Amino acid sequence: MRTVDLIQKKRDGFSLTSEEIKWLIDGYVSGEVPDYQMAAWAMAVYFKGMTTQETKDLTMAMVATGEQIDLSAIPGVKTDKHSTGGVGDKVTLILAPLVASFGVPVAKMSGRGLGHTGGTLDKLESISGYQIERSQEEFIQQVQTIGLSVVGQSDKLVKADKLLYALRDVTATVDIIPLIASSVMSKKIASGADAILLDVTVGEGAFMKTLEEAEQLASTMVALGNEVGRKTVAVITDMSQPVGQAIGNRLEVLEALEIMQGKGRPDVTAFICELAQIMLSLAGKEETLETIKQYLVSGKALAKFEEMVVAQGGDLTDLYRPSSAAFVTDVTADENGFIEELPALEFGLFAMRLGAGRAVKTDSLDYESGIVFAKKVGDSINKGETIAKIYSNQKLSENLLTEFKKNVKIGLTESQPKEIIKIIS
Ligand code: URA
Repeated sequence: MRTVDLIQKKRDGFSLTSEEIKWLIDGYVSGEVPDYQMAAWAMAVYFKGMTTQETKDLTMAMVATGEQIDLSAIPGVKTDKHSTGGVGDKVTLILAPLVASFGVPVAKMSGRGLGHTGGTLDKLESISGYQIERSQEEFIQQVQTIGLSVVGQSDKLVKADKLLYALRDVTATVDIIPLIASSVMSKKIASGADAILLDVTVGEGAFMKTLEEAEQLASTMVALGNEVGRKTVAVITDMSQPVGQAIGNRLEVLEALEIMQGKGRPDVTAFICELAQIMLSLAGKEETLETIKQYLVSGKALAKFEEMVVAQGGDLTDLYRPSSAAFVTDVTADENGFIEELPALEFGLFAMRLGAGRAVKTDSLDYESGIVFAKKVGDSINKGETIAKIYSNQKLSENLLTEFKKNVKIGLTESQPKEIIKIIS
């Protein structure tokens, strides 16, 4: 086989066979297929797409390029959850211990944030001492003992994705459904869980800008998971505004703790309960939303979260420490009305400039900085009232403040945004 022929075949709109895809992926991982040819192939996929069979073949070829975690030593239905990326998305911090508090094991490998989107690992690492690197044995043993572990993805898993994702990132080939679906699902399949909840975000702050695209990605991933015997459900969730109130690592941990103490905004609390209900049902446990809320606000999920923090070396006294950012700047409203728009993308980028996120992979983070919104879309606001507090370690310039305010749209429309837009199973 020759790589150039496979690129040409795809460029001309034909489907590659399972053997051809496997040959290409194996060759890329072994270094025989160079970056420039893989980039040309990815661009051909961008324009010509892939069939369902090709996407499945690609996913399984990717899975085979690394270790696969065997969770069979853990009794019960092992669950996992994945988000396609969001702003202020601290859902895993709450959902994982909440589900685990019902006795359903959660074994989760998470990623870091890049660009305007955050990553669970960075949030957990803002807790002093928290170890995200665990051997496979330690990971499995922790889930056996306390029913929950959130760790960084092992370097040995899906080697093809590491190479391919880095390549796609610099060749404008990230936002293409078969490549996103195979990237996400190869990692989920290799991570070993029996049941997977996928959170497919949609809106300006997400990869998928339209509901139609999000539905297509969700259906592709659900089919991939189910075909290989993993019970998979996807929820399409709104990413037109940030999730909850906080953006920024420590600030999001603090918001998660508040939610688990029953002090969160009712909308985020309800959203997380709905996700937990789906995840529990995937594991064969049917629970009412009232019961789930009770577990969430009564401290059961929080106790499980603390257990995980301790098990992974985190310092419980540091956990509850407020942000140590040197400056806290109040942003107030100039008029009365309702919050109509809080664009997730713009505020994700703003938080990144404060140091809460990385522009490039090698950037270091300022865990303490970020934004806490006092108001969300649909809330009423009066002139002079706080819209948000900005936490930073450098004094904010007037220009930056003006920019922040420009992105908050206040008007006369009182809307009721919905977090979960659709469930695909
Ligand atoms: N998240 C992933 O893991 N892979 C993609 O391709 C996009 C989002």
